[in-house]
Amino acid sequence: MSAEQLKQAAAQAALDYCLARTGNDAVIGIGTGSTVNHFITLLAPHRGRIGAAVASSEASAALLRQHRIPVVDLNSVAEVALYVDGADEINPALEMIKGGGGALTREKIVAAVAREFVCIADQSKWVEHLGKFPLPVEVIPMARSHVGRQLRALGAHPEWRQGAVTDNGNYLIDAHGLYPIAPARRLEERLNHIAGVVCNGLFALRPADVLLLARSGGVDTIRAR
Ligand code: 5RP
Repeated sequence: MSAEQLKQAAAQAALDYCLARTGNDAVIGIGTGSTVNHFITLLAPHRGRIGAAVASSEASAALLRQHRIPVVDLNSVAEVALYVDGADEINPALEMIKGGGGALTREKIVAAVAREFVCIADQSKWVEHLGKFPLPVEVIPMARSHVGRQLRALGAHPEWRQGAVTDNGNYLIDAHGLYPIAPARRLEERLNHIAGVVCNGLFALRPADVLLLARSGGVDTIRAR
């Protein structure tokens, strides 16, 4: 099976999961990335089965609207029943590195609000330890050099993602060389305390609740160990 077929299989499993567990008025959180794009496409014929969607990026909001799936502002909803999103890496504790697509801050906000976080991924994302994928950090533009120095002091090799501007108007730094990240919660907290850091791509303080992992033999449902 190709990577794209595996992503589609994970997305189909998420759709089945979502339809089985939510009522007709439920607000669903929609993440960002190629795996989630499959989910949006599969959700389209079932748009009448959900109340509305909250998107974690302008790109996902545009795709949802293109499929005539109603998109609402997070501030206008009391709760998000379920959040479906991909990951760049995910470990057995269902901690993740996210933000390869640059949407980490809004993704973390929607994840914080959601009652249940459903991660969808193909087998290439499954790791024992996080950190081979460079850790994205969103920074206020004037703090870029300062944050870079602080990351270097933590042992990372920071690389500015030149030309990339987030939906929030900020810059991205990718922190290489942090493998293995353990415990991930401690590094997530440390990075949050650097002045100028808006958000970092570690999702350990709020990990996923369930992972739908597509392998060539089928889709496994994995809960945190
Ligand atoms: C975007 C993300 C994505 O979830 C992550 O990059 C995975 O993307 P894809 O499904 O394209 O592999 O965190 O900011």
